[in-house]
Amino acid sequence: MKTKLSVNLNKVALIRNSRGQNFPNLINVAQDCEKFGADGITIHPRPDQRHARYQDIHDLKSVVNTELNIEGYPSRKFLDEVLLARPHQCTLVPDAPGVLTSNSGWDTITHQALLVDVVKELKAEGIRVSLFMNPELDLIKAAADTGTDRIELYTGKYASVKDGDNKQLTKHVEASKLSAQLGLGLNAGHDLNLNNLLKYNLAISNLLEVSIGHSLVVDSIYYGLQNTIQLYKRQLN
Ligand code: PXP
Repeated sequence: MKTKLSVNLNKVALIRNSRGQNFPNLINVAQDCEKFGADGITIHPRPDQRHARYQDIHDLKSVVNTELNIEGYPSRKFLDEVLLARPHQCTLVPDAPGVLTSNSGWDTITHQALLVDVVKELKAEGIRVSLFMNPELDLIKAAADTGTDRIELYTGKYASVKDGDNKQLTKHVEASKLSAQLGLGLNAGHDLNLNNLLKYNLAISNLLEVSIGHSLVVDSIYYGLQNTIQLYKRQLN
């Protein structure tokens, strides 16, 4: 089974916004990512729209030929935009409004009622739902009770450990096995890069998709977008 690469374009949107013009053009970059081998495009509009904007959801929906994944906290505004655009997948993250980047998954026990409602609403429009999760078994069990199709494991802690320390990876392997038993599809993301992706993908046999933004954009400065996407794809196949 090949793991799909969804390219997160938030950093590209950040560069665009820094000059107040439509350059780089997110649509063109998304189309080029697909041409260069990306299996999907992800954006994560935050309430302040400092990188991806809500309008980008609609613009990308009309051109993305692979899979469009929209991440975000399920505020009413976010949900209305997603329900209107109907992307292939919506990944729900529990971020507080001012957070710099997502750094933890859902507490699916505390927020069970909210998630049940939101998952139902999104699925009714034919949108596949994924919940951003830490590799914690009790919370993953409760994630299954929300009706979600998939979970996305937060890989930030895995990415931050020193070489040779496999405790985090073991937690992810256990979480991946439980997800399979529960019938949940498995995605992963955050801080994945060319140094840690291969090991992760080899250890997690049921990994359907990774979404990668920061490192992929940084690597593109050195290697170019086409080479970089191919380098990431090689780690996944
Ligand atoms: N998954 C989620 C839920 C995220 O919020 C982000 C960052 O926007 C990513 C994956 C991608 O992380 P990175 O930019 O570190 O590759």
